Amino acid sequence: MEYANINLTDEIFNKLKDMIYQISGIYFGEQKKYLLETRLSKRLSVLSLPNFEDYYNYLRYAPEKKLEIKELLNSVTTNETSFFRDMPQLDVFTDILKQVVQTAGSAYRKIRIWSAACSTGEEPYTLCILIKENFPKSDINFEIVGSDISESALTSARKGVYGGYTLRNAPLAVLNKYFDKTDDDMYGVKDIVKNMTSFRNVNLMDKEEVKSLNVFDVVLCRNVIIYFDIESKKKAIANIYESLKTGGYLFLGHSESLHSVSASFKLVGLGKTPLYKKE
Ligand SMILES: C[S@@+](CC[C@H](N)C(=O)[O-])C[C@H]1O[C@@H](n2cnc3c(N)ncnc32)[C@H](O)[C@@H]1O
Repeated sequence: MEYANINLTDEIFNKLKDMIYQISGIYFGEQKKYLLETRLSKRLSVLSLPNFEDYYNYLRYAPEKKLEIKELLNSVTTNETSFFRDMPQLDVFTDILKQVVQTAGSAYRKIRIWSAACSTGEEPYTLCILIKENFPKSDINFEIVGSDISESALTSARKGVYGGYTLRNAPLAVLNKYFDKTDDDMYGVKDIVKNMTSFRNVNLMDKEEVKSLNVFDVVLCRNVIIYFDIESKKKAIANIYESLKTGGYLFLGHSESLHSVSASFKLVGLGKTPLYKKE
């Protein structure tokens, strides 16, 4: 399909970037104007709109504006992820989980883990596999919740069928044990993994939506706040803070930190991976 080749003016760029920021916290600086233009030109074609001004007005006033805002978010989010992304950090996750299990004490307790902004599901499914491998006989009831603002990413996550590239870091033994190969050379996550996981559309900017997930023992919010400005970072992290149990842990992406964002957490070092604890 050919997409409309229409310029995004500075005026409409500013209006669109403000709208995206207000809804999602994602900040498109001046230098990302072309990126936004490219990503949204497909929507103009789909809706047969002649220019970005009409698209902006459609987002504001059309009866279908709620549906289009979902499409907008699908279009402007960066959903890059993969299975076993940043293995050194996942090793720390496993060590931390062992501590959490030990302090949990009594059997049959529930341990809740949240993959906040999980994109297409690779991160929460990786966590499930790590749990299956490290706690094969545990009585603990592990629950993994994956959430994202992009409905199209969540649809893929719920489907749980992946191509080889996103599984490039998965050991062969893991592929054989936890995936079914499909006729078209894809890999479907087995039910033993899928059954531990649920997916929800949650905007990290929205206090009530985050609250509706209830509280967690461990939260991973990796490679998300890099897309936010400082105010949005503060908002998202404050919401996550409320969703952690006292004594719970927060993982960020390896290039992210809470410096100037929040003083509520204690930075606890475990190897080279920065890790935050709610005390
Ligand atoms: C680069 S992916 C990170 C995926 C995974 N956490 C990882 O590290 O591999 C960033 C994800 O953040 C999501 N996102 C962006 N803004 C969000 C918001 N306000 N609330 C929830 N998710 C958001 C995007 O839709 C995208 O799927």
